[in-house]
Amino acid sequence: MSQSPATPTYRFTQPIVGMIWAQTNTGVIGADGGMPWHLPEDMAHFTRVTKGHPVVMGRKTWESFPDKFRPLPDRTNIVVTRQQGWGSTPEASGAVVLDSLEEALVEAQFSPGGNEVWVIGGGQVYEQAKEHCNVAVITVINTDARGDTQAPGLSSEWTFRGATPLEGWHTAKNGTEYRFTLWAKGETEFQAE
Ligand SMILES: NC(=O)c1ccc[n+]([C@@H]2O[C@H](COP(=O)([O-])OP(=O)(O)OC[C@H]3O[C@@H](n4cnc5c(N)ncnc54)[C@H](OP(=O)(O)O)[C@@H]3O)[C@@H](O)[C@H]2O)c1
Repeated sequence: MSQSPATPTYRFTQPIVGMIWAQTNTGVIGADGGMPWHLPEDMAHFTRVTKGHPVVMGRKTWESFPDKFRPLPDRTNIVVTRQQGWGSTPEASGAVVLDSLEEALVEAQFSPGGNEVWVIGGGQVYEQAKEHCNVAVITVINTDARGDTQAPGLSSEWTFRGATPLEGWHTAKNGTEYRFTLWAKGETEFQAE
């Protein structure tokens, strides 16, 4: 069993459009509008990976963040919704609101740090975004917690490129076991350390 790590640093050698999520052993990513675990080490990892780059998310994921945590700092927060006028509501304050995922992904690439774009959920958005993405950063949490939202399935085009730790689990301060994994589509080249 390894100790809680410093979060890994990823260095991508080409522009990427990535997805990042945390899931249970059975692929659960959400329950009742939130996540069925508490894992500050994963939040630190998420911040380390996404900070300085645009993030794209569905309206429900945006609403899952407490007011004081949104918009996520040092990142252009792009939120997709099909609700006309939602972008003018107080709820949307601090977000760039668009009504199409394709448009959101282009807008993200024009935003500061847009050489790396991070799709941050949730289930509906990952499912639609995966065809546009070339990288997936997936935290696996060693729990069988139940939920109502699943991670997207990744086809055989996607291959495992590494993990920390390579074997076994990190153990969080609260005892939760987890590992960070890295997947890429096709010939995507990058280094992670
Ligand atoms: N474990 C993780 O890493 C992680 C990460 C993120 C989220 N989550 C969890 O996932 C759950 C939320 O996921 P979810 O699947 O229910 O919702 P979601 O994907 O966050 O948001 C869905 C909403 O996004 C909008 N939307 C989706 N596709 C769109 C498109 N093509 N064009 C325009 N708007 C579009 C719609 O908003 P309107 O209804 O407003 O039209 C839709 O209802 C929560 O439990 C959250 O905590 C977990």
